[in-house]
Amino acid sequence: MVRGRKIEIVSFLLLQIVVAATAANVTYDHRALVIDGKRKILISGSIHYPRSTPEMWPDLIQKSKDGGLDVIETYVFWNGHEPHKNKYNFEGRYDLVKFVKLVAKAGLYVHLRIGPYACAEWNYGGFPVWLHFIPGIKFRTDNEPFKAEMQRFTAKIVDLMKQERLYVSQGGPIILSQVENEYGNVDSSYGAAGKIYMKWSASMALSLDTGVPWNMCQQGDAPDPIINTCNGFYCDQFTPNSNNKPKMWTENWSGWFLGFGDPTPYRPVEDLAFAVAIFYQRSGTFQNYYMYHGGTNFERTSGGPLISTSYDYDAPIDEYGLVRQPKWGHLRDLHKAIKLCEDALLATDPTVTSLGSNLVASEYKTSSGSCAAFLANIGTVSDATVTFNGNSYHLPAWSISILPDCKTVAFNTAKINAATESTTFARQALKPNADSSEELGSQWSYIKEPIGISKADAFVKPGLLEQINTTADESDYLWYSLRMDIKGDETFLDEGSKAVLHVQSIGQVVYAFINGKLAGSGNGKQKISLDIPINLVTGKNTIDLLSVTVGLANYGAFFDLFGAGITGPVTLKSAKSGSSIDLSSQQWTYQVGLKGEDTDLGSGDSSEWVSKSPLPTMQPLIWYKTTFDAPSGSDPVAIDFTGTGKGIAWVNGQSIGRYWPTSIARNDGCTDSCNYRGSYSANKCLKNCGKPSQTLYHVPRSWIKPSGNTLVLLEEMGGDPTKISFATKQTGSSLCLTVSQSHPAPVDSWASDLKILNRTSPVLSLKCPVSTHVITSINFASFGTPTGTCGSFSHGRCNGPRSLSIVRKACVGSRSCKVEVSTRVFGDPCRSLAKSLAVEASCS
Ligand code: GAL
Repeated sequence: MVRGRKIEIVSFLLLQIVVAATAANVTYDHRALVIDGKRKILISGSIHYPRSTPEMWPDLIQKSKDGGLDVIETYVFWNGHEPHKNKYNFEGRYDLVKFVKLVAKAGLYVHLRIGPYACAEWNYGGFPVWLHFIPGIKFRTDNEPFKAEMQRFTAKIVDLMKQERLYVSQGGPIILSQVENEYGNVDSSYGAAGKIYMKWSASMALSLDTGVPWNMCQQGDAPDPIINTCNGFYCDQFTPNSNNKPKMWTENWSGWFLGFGDPTPYRPVEDLAFAVAIFYQRSGTFQNYYMYHGGTNFERTSGGPLISTSYDYDAPIDEYGLVRQPKWGHLRDLHKAIKLCEDALLATDPTVTSLGSNLVASEYKTSSGSCAAFLANIGTVSDATVTFNGNSYHLPAWSISILPDCKTVAFNTAKINAATESTTFARQALKPNADSSEELGSQWSYIKEPIGISKADAFVKPGLLEQINTTADESDYLWYSLRMDIKGDETFLDEGSKAVLHVQSIGQVVYAFINGKLAGSGNGKQKISLDIPINLVTGKNTIDLLSVTVGLANYGAFFDLFGAGITGPVTLKSAKSGSSIDLSSQQWTYQVGLKGEDTDLGSGDSSEWVSKSPLPTMQPLIWYKTTFDAPSGSDPVAIDFTGTGKGIAWVNGQSIGRYWPTSIARNDGCTDSCNYRGSYSANKCLKNCGKPSQTLYHVPRSWIKPSGNTLVLLEEMGGDPTKISFATKQTGSSLCLTVSQSHPAPVDSWASDLKILNRTSPVLSLKCPVSTHVITSINFASFGTPTGTCGSFSHGRCNGPRSLSIVRKACVGSRSCKVEVSTRVFGDPCRSLAKSLAVEASCS
């Protein structure tokens, strides 16, 4: 007993020593965050833990580290952690402690944005909907009930982090926490109470005593010592509100989010790299990619209105966890180049000189002799040749060159040394269970969801009810139902009882059923106005309106009160007489949610599944179920929902989110190629116009067993589930890249003491991303003036005749190869011209 106690004491002391050895303190000054007495240049990326699975986290974190990140930034998702008041969930995708510990294990830091308002295209901005029902509550303002809840949850998270010793001050990875989110963008709408609330948030956060600094983003008047930080596509023009605070960028939007009905946004890496480089050029020391991995809005977590299930974001790591090239690789090179400048960047403020119109040099020169420089061409049209410290440099339009020794270019944002890697979705039929002898397509069983009221908890209320107040978001679905008795002598109806049903809703989808039959539907973000020609019968009629939400609003002043549902008016109009009757204030019967939700059909376990053929298809409101074997291999899996309409899907009882392949992207604003030069905005670079916004839906591998998996869909509008197929996402069967003679040598040829190793010439390097693959063929190679882009290269006027054989010899049969881009290797096919080498290779 005594001995045991001694061991305990000794190990306690040892633990203290270990903690003391690794614990650091974080402060800041006007240049940077200061960790353990040392200023740091930090590169950060957002990964929201519930947008992937714990099984994916280690790989995502490793790919972030390999990409040159120092910090992982995440929001904390209140509604995920406290779905019902005082009932907490820190399991599975919500295992925040595990996520933070995995980041620590990889040797990276964490920026924890506790909020607890997140925004983030997340349902209700991260607020639990039950908050809305607390008497007297007003969100995000000087309101006691709100502040009490916000403080309780924020303290809960801080306590949990402290308990697990996760702050840097305790030896953990968390260097910074955020309170609120972009409140400065909306606070004027909250008047004087808004200011009081903002100050309260700051002091509440500080009182929690985390031992690390707090930040507020987009809050120009964040009180000391809270650091105000910037969010946006560019933040080089930002200055913090005190000269004692560092210039920090908490959201650099690496792309943009997708909405149902919208084309797909993308952000060219040349522009993203430009934004990052100019931020560090102009004294920034911390920037975060929002998102570095966007992931998936599983279940009903997507925000609204109408945020899609994919949250890919055109991020450097794609939705499925694969690196997106050349984005990931070019940014990795950029991070390396910035880090080569770290000592000089941190030691001093820059000396800025103009090198001409739109041409700026920033030099960081220290007394100890180190020197780093950034040369910027912020013009959007013309390339330039500049002279800096007596040397001449070529600067493409809208680009920055980084010179870690003030002489040699290690990186230019517009000159990409990382190869483009193709990704493809390989189609696989939805394979039936191996032990089933039935034909494909006959494995589906179904249950019809009743049209209209079917549950015992339905209730009657006069007038039209707002949806969120009625459902508390326990379900996307709310039935509004009315029975009407039409007498034979009804005067306002046409002959044959024809009428027009007018329905007005504030979102997001409405289906109108007349006497059990779908008569019309529509959708919209904030306003739906339907005029549906209908036939009524003499005698009893039912009007059943199904209103469906697709993600609750997450952004804007008072977004919590935007509301949803059929708020009216609902009228019936006769074409014949022109008269109309307003049904809005009638006695409506309401049903929250569907019957099949109550009986948990999504789990697949029910004795009511019907396997009789034919399978009913193209009819609204049917639950479908099938079983399947895992698609072969280990590549990430998606389900292609083409052929179905809209609904929610479950794999082995786990909701993979809302599917809606019939939501078509508006046909406007897409361009074949987007010019990266010049300011980016969310609508600048769009693709996929006129096509379904999202057909492919991620199913994490860890949710699928080798065989005997269950897939359940709730199809709302009518579709054919037998058309569903699997797709596995494969990367890198083809590589391509163009490297010019004016490209900088690979940044990897720099040693950290700034001596350039090996080469000074540009090099084209290729590497098959799959470790078991080798380069099997070179489909194109030209040293000269090749034209075109990946997939469509062609020879220009000048083409070195031996290009193909030289590249083949260097590359075929190996997983990776490097070819110097110089006349020494290729000879000179055209003396006076600037040349480049373009290569397209296949791996398998
Ligand atoms: C910001 C917000 C983020 C996210 C982003 C757009 O305003 O802070 O949470 O919503 O916009 O993706």
